[in-house]
Amino acid sequence: MKNIVIFASGSGSNAENIILHFKKSAQANVAAVFSNKANAGVIERAETQNIPTVVFTKDELLAGKVLEKLKPFQPDLIVLAGFLLKFPHDIIAHYHGKIINIHPALLPKYGGKGMYGMNVHRAIIENKESETGITIHYIDEHYDEGDIIFQKSVALNGRETCEEISEKVQQLEHEYFPVIVEKIISEL
Ligand code: GRF
Repeated sequence: MKNIVIFASGSGSNAENIILHFKKSAQANVAAVFSNKANAGVIERAETQNIPTVVFTKDELLAGKVLEKLKPFQPDLIVLAGFLLKFPHDIIAHYHGKIINIHPALLPKYGGKGMYGMNVHRAIIENKESETGITIHYIDEHYDEGDIIFQKSVALNGRETCEEISEKVQQLEHEYFPVIVEKIISEL
């Protein structure tokens, strides 16, 4: 049984989706959900599914304390699902090649510092893009520059609001993220 540990800072719809996807799996399970926000929706969603949660501060993350909290869960794959802090080098080094992230755009466009949530969709509208989508990629020392694993696009008609684009992107995320996680796990 492979162990997945999810890191998230927000509402956690992707985290919950992955938890539910593996609930009956003989292959893998979500061993824990880590968050830097005690009041994030992801904590409540994890607790509802009886998944252990670990809340930490940015200082603990930077002081290497989170790596120590992570080791006991023996993660085979670390999944960032809306984790908004820069992932520290100590964890990247220790779990090299085993950390993935999902980004709500078609990288390398619309990535990097500050490009998260509605900021991304606003920029898509401002630039009159005819499509957007999702990118699942490995994490390296820089924000959104790790090797790309999977991308899926969705056409835009140029009249969508930010919220409508967010909804279209989230549907892609919920459809494909668990499937890609399962594929990576099966190849470990
Ligand atoms: C998603 O849009 C994901 O692409 C981005 O953060 C958001 C997380 O949403 N990295 P949720 O908290 O899983 O609902």
